[in-house]
Amino acid sequence: MKIDVIRKLPEHLDTIVVLHHENEPLPVLDFMPEELQTAIETFIKAEELSFEYGKINNFHHIGQKYNTRIILCGAGDPGQLSMDKLRRLFANCVRLASKLKTRSIYLFMGFLPSLNDVAFGHALSEAVLLAVYTFDKYLSEKKNGVIESLHYVLNNKNTRHINRGILEGRIYAETTMLARDLVNEPANVINPDTLAETAKKAALQYGFSIEIISMDKLKRIKMDAFLAVGRGSKYEPKLIIMRYLGNPDGKKETIGLIGKGLTYDSGGYCIKTPQGMVNMKNDMGGSAAVIGAMSAIATLRLKVNVIGIVAACENMISGEAYRPGDILRSMSGKTIEVINTDAEGRLTLIDAIHYAIERERVDRVLDIATLTGAAVAALGPQFSAVLTNNEAWLQQLRTASDFTGELIWEMPAHEEYKEMLKSEIADLKNVGGATAGCITAGLFIKEFVADKPWLHIDIAGTALKEKEAGIYSYGATGVGVRLLTSLLREME
Ligand code: BES
Ligand code: MG
Ligand code: ZN
Repeated sequence: MKIDVIRKLPEHLDTIVVLHHENEPLPVLDFMPEELQTAIETFIKAEELSFEYGKINNFHHIGQKYNTRIILCGAGDPGQLSMDKLRRLFANCVRLASKLKTRSIYLFMGFLPSLNDVAFGHALSEAVLLAVYTFDKYLSEKKNGVIESLHYVLNNKNTRHINRGILEGRIYAETTMLARDLVNEPANVINPDTLAETAKKAALQYGFSIEIISMDKLKRIKMDAFLAVGRGSKYEPKLIIMRYLGNPDGKKETIGLIGKGLTYDSGGYCIKTPQGMVNMKNDMGGSAAVIGAMSAIATLRLKVNVIGIVAACENMISGEAYRPGDILRSMSGKTIEVINTDAEGRLTLIDAIHYAIERERVDRVLDIATLTGAAVAALGPQFSAVLTNNEAWLQQLRTASDFTGELIWEMPAHEEYKEMLKSEIADLKNVGGATAGCITAGLFIKEFVADKPWLHIDIAGTALKEKEAGIYSYGATGVGVRLLTSLLREME
């Protein structure tokens, strides 16, 4: 979809969107044809419209000169209009337009929100592109129409900053959609091989380097916890290593992004219920976030050094599969008693993290994973759970979260809980117990970060949406791509 800023209207206006707030009457809009301004004012009077936040009305105007669909959108109290609230408004208007089979949209603002031009442009293009995303490639009848263009009608000669924001928002949206596609594709399409292939394509397209490590070498370097999880599958595990060195000179630190890459999680011998299995194609949501973020970071040419790592495998059942009761020796040398084969994500992550620290020399570790049902139980689909050993870094993540609207909530990474991971016959067990599952999973991982600054993001609840709303369509959210990208911008 083309998104631009214009100062001159064409003869035919397909759909116009007017955004205004509730504190003042609608002003005369720059460039708005008189016929349409009158039609809008008449409609507002007749319907006693107040432009409350989130209220969207639409009508079809057929007049002397114009045959135009008009969408009126309420922004509420302009003092309360955050970037995320603005994004949601744009998204909902454009989704409506898309359902109405609009081809081109002309956006008029009744007021200017107190955002800078870059942020405004960013919010606009990101919201619009993400809102019209649908995963409908397997549907014979497509869900939405195709919007070809959105033109922001603005009486301002200097559009440099807005245009920069529009471009930025497009990068955020495109890489988020890449992640959404990866997660939405079912496990009969995305397996460790095809996940690695897709990462390769992204590396070529967006400009970062990539290395795929296969079975033989993984055995040689003793990533045995990771390998155990993948052993029941007909697909061999793959370690995907992505490198982007945007700040090569000096002693600049390297940040490791580790994404959980279970292309399917059946639970293994501790098999899930049918209902529990349906969405387990999304168990590589963390890896999609890392691949998306690598793509965004490289496109934006951020001055940071980032290594993205994904231990890709499939948790299945066969005569080869690992069992409850097995004792695994992780790459770090620490041994783990397997209590539950469904607590597999942490086993793959710790080997990937150890690899990142030992072999890639990362100075910081961020892991992102659809890790626990306990995170879903605690926070639902709204918030991702976060654990850390470094409050200053978490503060930067909070700033990123404020910018992108991907909500996070800190869980206590308190030593008290570590007790729960003690095993009688190994250094650790892979499950803490019936309670505090989100925390014990995080603390399990913390044992392998060698005291590096560490952020842990559990996206089990936030990776999927059951209902479309705002910038989210049904299915994968692409959570983490924008969050990680914004975090790295904070760290530039
Ligand atoms: N991939 C799941 C976590 C999950 C659950 C993600 C629901 C998305 C939605 C993870 O591998 C898992 O199975 N975790 C178990 C751990 C338990 C056995 C300690 C869980 O949360 O039930
Ligand atoms: Mg599992
Ligand atoms: Zn899992």
